[in-house]
Amino acid sequence: MVKVAVLGYGTVGSGVVEVLSENKELVSKKSGTEVSVKYILDLRDFPGDTYEKLIIHDFNIILNDPEVTVVCETMGGVGAAYQFSKQCLEKGKSVCTSNKELVAKHGPELLKIAKEHYCSYLFEASVGGGIPIIRPIMDALAAEKIESILGILNGTTNFILTKMEKEGADFDAVLKLAQELGYAERNPEADVEGHDACRKISILSSLMLGKNVDSEKVYTEGITKITAEDFAFAKKAGYTIKILGVSEAQGEGEVLTYVSPFFIENSHPLAMVNDVFNGIFVTGNMVGDTMYYGKGAGKLPTASAVAADVIDAARHQGKNVPCYWDEDDAKLADISDASFKYYVRVKADALDELKSLAPAGKLIEADVAGQAGYITEKICERDFVKIAEKLGDKMLGRLRVYSAK
Ligand code: HSE
Repeated sequence: MVKVAVLGYGTVGSGVVEVLSENKELVSKKSGTEVSVKYILDLRDFPGDTYEKLIIHDFNIILNDPEVTVVCETMGGVGAAYQFSKQCLEKGKSVCTSNKELVAKHGPELLKIAKEHYCSYLFEASVGGGIPIIRPIMDALAAEKIESILGILNGTTNFILTKMEKEGADFDAVLKLAQELGYAERNPEADVEGHDACRKISILSSLMLGKNVDSEKVYTEGITKITAEDFAFAKKAGYTIKILGVSEAQGEGEVLTYVSPFFIENSHPLAMVNDVFNGIFVTGNMVGDTMYYGKGAGKLPTASAVAADVIDAARHQGKNVPCYWDEDDAKLADISDASFKYYVRVKADALDELKSLAPAGKLIEADVAGQAGYITEKICERDFVKIAEKLGDKMLGRLRVYSAK
């Protein structure tokens, strides 16, 4: 028998209770033992809620109840969520989480504590919502030397970009809709400024290398500067715009990890990943390209991944589910040394200057009044920064152009 406690009865937490309750029979069968929710911890009361009787406000009841062997942490943040997770693991209670911020910040430490106390720290829901991606990297691709990971890792921004492209929608209105649908973070700046995707690509990169990729050192750029004009130029040139998390092994144990919006060719499989869906490309040295696709945010998809971790924890009671991610820092390459083609949008009268600074580029013939769009040849980021400085406020926008290695 496994008794579960759920910490945080918000969007994901309530979804976890729903999945574990509605699919109780199946979950128990697959766990090899009966699984049921014993407590739900939240500061609030939920009068009239189906699971009202399970709500408690004192974490110590969970910590000191030996019957509770699996805890779902769906609170978010790195304060109480960190303390509670640590205390549970130290007591030998497995923790299943959707909290990417916490996993990115304290993952290796919590994994170590879990190992020392014969329990597990599981975080399938922290990346890609309902898409299986942690387990494929850890298990199915375990024999692979992973060369690169490339992914649309944030549902909210993909939803916004899709609506901007297909419906010419207003940024703020779509963000509001994403919040209403339960996709966005409590502070949606984490979505639109790329921090959420940064945490996710840092987690995946750490699993790829077995070393820690510190998300705070990862170059991150969001989508707030992208305009309708950028989409007009992209469309004319045969591209769309997506924000991607990228991680590329560079040899000598080094990795280039970053988050950036890109011009990406319409023919690329990730260009077809729309709305709240996420898509992740993982390339291994033996298997080649693999791709994972599904709903990257939302109550039930994310809750489903947490519930699958509960089953895994239940199957491994008294044992540790191993994870290849130690505390040593990975060596991070500097994006300034990387080379890209750049899409540049300038005031029409600055086009000649742009062409002289970056010859051998390609003009985008689009009908945007007073503006010109141009795609440069591949240049080093360090050199492009100098070009951008020379153009000053004559440059209205710029995006990296994705090209496969
Ligand atoms: N805010 C996140 C997203 C939720 O939009 O992808 C899922 O991690």
